[in-house]
Parts: sequence; structure tokens; C-alpha cells
Amino acid sequence: MNLIRQAVRIMIFFTVLFPALCWAAQREFSLTIDEVSIDVAPGFSSKVFAFNGQVPGPLIHVMEGDDVTVHVTNNTTLPHSIHWHGVNQTGSWKNDGVPGVTQEAIQPGESFTYKFKTDRPGTLWYHCHVNVWEHVALRGMWGPLIVDPKNPSELEKKVTKDVIIMLSGWESAYANTYGKGGASQDVDDYFSINAKSYPMNQPIRVKKGDVMRLRFIGAGDEQQQMHLHGHDMLIVAKDGYPLAQPYFVDTVPVGPGERFDAIVQMNNPGLFIMHDHIDKHMSNNGAMMGGTMTVIEYDGIPMESWYAWKDKVYDPNFFYSESMKQGYGLFNSAPFMGKPVEQGRRRR
Ligand code: CU
Ligand code: CU
Ligand code: CU
Repeated sequence: MNLIRQAVRIMIFFTVLFPALCWAAQREFSLTIDEVSIDVAPGFSSKVFAFNGQVPGPLIHVMEGDDVTVHVTNNTTLPHSIHWHGVNQTGSWKNDGVPGVTQEAIQPGESFTYKFKTDRPGTLWYHCHVNVWEHVALRGMWGPLIVDPKNPSELEKKVTKDVIIMLSGWESAYANTYGKGGASQDVDDYFSINAKSYPMNQPIRVKKGDVMRLRFIGAGDEQQQMHLHGHDMLIVAKDGYPLAQPYFVDTVPVGPGERFDAIVQMNNPGLFIMHDHIDKHMSNNGAMMGGTMTVIEYDGIPMESWYAWKDKVYDPNFFYSESMKQGYGLFNSAPFMGKPVEQGRRRR
């Protein structure tokens, strides 16, 4: 009996488990870079260089160890590249996306193919590496790259809501002028979550008992202090790396380039604000309330007359959970799409 059981176990290992452990998926994607205009805040839109026409760029969701190929075509009038921030490019350094160091920038009308293995899991992101102070800080050249770990923690396995929060700022003075802006003396005057300022972004909808993971990504050039009301946030990962000793906070500083994963037990039904605690970041060009804020809405809480978002049309495809339930691949998101900038009327 025991021998048969042993034989069955060995068979299962070699036919099912062993190939699953060794198998690296091949993932092949295409990205274009286009000149579009996106609406950021009421009365404010900005010209951007947009991956697949949207800001943030499409969600790229893969597994640790996958072999990723990305074909990039530059349809704009300026050169670009893509840096895969958090990928260590082990043995593939020419795919690191730094012009003048690992490649020539991708010129207008040209294409480039990146190939790399996702050697590190976690909350990563991708962004242009040409004139970063303009292209990343003001022109929306960034998107999330989420790499699932082969061995998730017990707490991670309990997550029911996976929310991506990409933070950034904008400069209205240069919004209409490609090739300018982002210098150290310039001042941001609009601030956003996933490229939309309050009230143009979306509420985060949860139900009691949800386990929410907030993936904060600092895509702008100013530090932001994200504060969640009514709940503790357990910081479990920094820059994609799981922390040996997770710690509780109610406010987390997210600097340029940084990522924090916070796990939150949704156990306090109501309406709770989440916002940047730097006052200026909660305004649209000085007008309160705006900028980097959103509201956690629990299922079953009646929307009363004073609630500013009571008539809000909900769009689930805003990188707040539904986006991460699509499985593995590259996913465009309708709410982030821009409008084409008219050729010829563009000023440089
Ligand atoms: Cu660029
Ligand atoms: Cu970076
Ligand atoms: Cu507050």
C-alpha cells in the first residue's frame, strides 16, 4: 500500500508540480507612445506622452520569473525610452532603458523591443528615462508593473481588494507646451491619484471583512504623505521587498520612485477619506478640496445629502481592485484614455 502511495506521489511531483515550478511564462506586449491630452482636474487638462494613449500607462501584471517582451513604438515628436523600475535586469542590462548608458533613445517614428525576466516580485513600475523631470513628472509617462511572488505570504493570500495608487503632480504653466517644464525652480499646482484630481478620481468601494492592499507608487517629483482615516495600515513591503517586521501607520510618506504596500483590515463601516497630508497637495491650483484625496465607501452605508460624491458615477476600471482581477497580461483602461492632440496646432 505504502509503496503504491509513494509511487503516486512521485508521479504527481514529476508530471504536475515539477513542471509548474520550472515553467516560466512568455509574455509579449506592445506599447505605443502617443501625444494626447488628458483631463486631470475640473478645468485643467495637460498634454502628455501617453503609453497606449492613457495615463497611467496600462497595467502590466505578470508572475515572478516570467520572460517579458515589450515592443515599444514612439509616435510622438520627441525621443523616449522605458525604464522598468524595480527589475534588476540580471544578465539583460541593455534592457534597462537608460539613453546614453544602455541604449539610444527611441527616436520619433522608431521602435525598440525590451526583453527581460521579472527577477524580483512586488509593486514595480515603468517610466520613461528621457528628460525625466518633464516626461515623468509632468507628461504622464508611467504605469504599474505588478509582479506576483511565487511564494506569497499568508497575509497576502487573504487580500480581497488590490488597489493601485499612483501619485503625481502637474504644472499648469507648461501643460500645453511639449519640451518644457519640470525644472527645479518650477512649482507643481495640481496633484492626482492615478492622474485624476479629486473630485475627478474614484471612490474605493469595499465591504466589511475585505482585506485591502494599497499599492502606493510615487510617480511624481514631490513627496506625498498618504493618510487613511478610520483604519490602521500595516506596511508590509517597501519597493516591492517584503519587510521582515511589518509596522502599523496611519500616514505613510511616499517619495519620488518609492513604493509601499499597505494591508488594511476593512472592519469599520462608514465613509472615510484618504488624502495627502501636505495641505497644498489637497488643492486644485490652490482651491480646496481637490488634489490627492479619495473616499473609502463601505457597502451598505447610505449616501446622505451632504456627501459630495453621492451622485458619483462609479467606474470600476480605475486600478482599484477590478483591474487586478483580470489575470496576467497587459490591460488598457478606458477611464485613463486621453484625446489625441491635433497635429500642427501643437506648440513646442
Ligand atoms: Cu519620454
Ligand atoms: Cu525609476
Ligand atoms: Cu485628514
